[in-house]
Amino acid sequence: MSHASEFLLTPQLRSRWMRFDTAQLLKRFFFCERSLLVSEASWVPAIAPLEIKTSLARYIWQSAETAHSLRERVFELRFPSRLLEEEGTDHALVELFNAVKDSPSVPAFLLSVGKILLPEMHNAYQSYLKASDLIADGPTHRFLGLALAEKAEQINAFNLWIEAAFSQNPEARPEATAWANEVADRLSAMGGVGVGPAVSLPAAGPLSGAKSYSIPVHPARDPQFWPCRFYWPDIVDPSYPYGEGMQLQLRSAISHLNEVWAVEAGGVILSAFADVLPWEWIYNSARWTYDESRHCRMGYDRLMAWKLDPAEIPLGTYIYESATTEGAADIPTNLLGMLFFFETKNIRHKPARVRLFHSYGDTLSEHDMDFDWADETLHARYGKRWLKELLAIRGQDPAAFEDVRTHCEKLVTDYIGTAKPTEITDLKIVADRLVNCAQRLRQTL
Ligand SMILES: [Fe+2]
Ligand SMILES: [Fe+2]
Repeated sequence: MSHASEFLLTPQLRSRWMRFDTAQLLKRFFFCERSLLVSEASWVPAIAPLEIKTSLARYIWQSAETAHSLRERVFELRFPSRLLEEEGTDHALVELFNAVKDSPSVPAFLLSVGKILLPEMHNAYQSYLKASDLIADGPTHRFLGLALAEKAEQINAFNLWIEAAFSQNPEARPEATAWANEVADRLSAMGGVGVGPAVSLPAAGPLSGAKSYSIPVHPARDPQFWPCRFYWPDIVDPSYPYGEGMQLQLRSAISHLNEVWAVEAGGVILSAFADVLPWEWIYNSARWTYDESRHCRMGYDRLMAWKLDPAEIPLGTYIYESATTEGAADIPTNLLGMLFFFETKNIRHKPARVRLFHSYGDTLSEHDMDFDWADETLHARYGKRWLKELLAIRGQDPAAFEDVRTHCEKLVTDYIGTAKPTEITDLKIVADRLVNCAQRLRQTL
């Protein structure tokens, strides 16, 4: 027999998740985004196409922004901060996300992220936005709505990259498919990301076919460019001029394009120190990696706007390889030091070049260099701060960050010393040909 309650009761979906439940879900999303971006960052050097490297850097940054907002929101919900430091009941889920870092190949990595993990995040965000309360949880809706749109864009891009990867390398398909299927099976066994309660499962061990991740010694290069170690003759021959006028315009765009090494370095260090340094490290280095990808695209875009042929454009590897070359004791620290060294070495030239480009009427180079300068000021601060924190964590003197910089300068100098005479001759031929080509094209622009 039913009887009226003495209270005002109404079945409202708004109250489906209480404050603590909400924080638990957002914490799960935070760890999944964090894991996803750390794996993506670690794979940047291994992936050849420039378009993927630079887009991936942007997606890493998007994930870091989302994760940062999630983390802040969890704290706002008065969730105990000590509980935010660990995955808790979502441990097995986050371990599975971590596992894609050990993908057996580039296509396997792209497939498991693009077809399994990203759609899983997308669906979880969609379910969350549908079921959560827009009034009480309005602040989450704002950033998660953006994250949902970004996930849709990321999935579309990954789908195109997967298609391209398989069409270039069809024999990679069976292994990659088996890998992605296993990720999908494990994910569904634990109930996916979703918005349901966590399913506690015992550790399932590594996925079959996993290949333990190691930092690539040589970065993969997009085959559309002229492959080399040293990308302009002045690097290996001090008598070769950096150039003025049109040569400076060209040299500057080549430099920007070749900042692809900094995108790779940013990705590697983000990932390598993710469990050593606090969350702010991931947040800063994701931005750093993305910024370097923007500088790289600036160069590419200018070279393409001048109608130069990518096959004639040198794309080098020497800075990255100076840090990873055989015998390198601590590759991530070298790469962090290398970024810090180049940030602080080149920044002083930038305002002068902005003025020169302005005097040429080259507003595009002026614009790019000026934005680049603003980013680099931020990066020099990141480099100093995090090198010091890293040294402190290792029980070393934080003031020794300058020694790391000096060591990296020496690594580069030594590596430049390995340039072979034939390599230098070939590079000069390519550079001169590009300058001549630019001179001819100048008439037609
Ligand atoms: Fe840069
Ligand atoms: Fe930078």
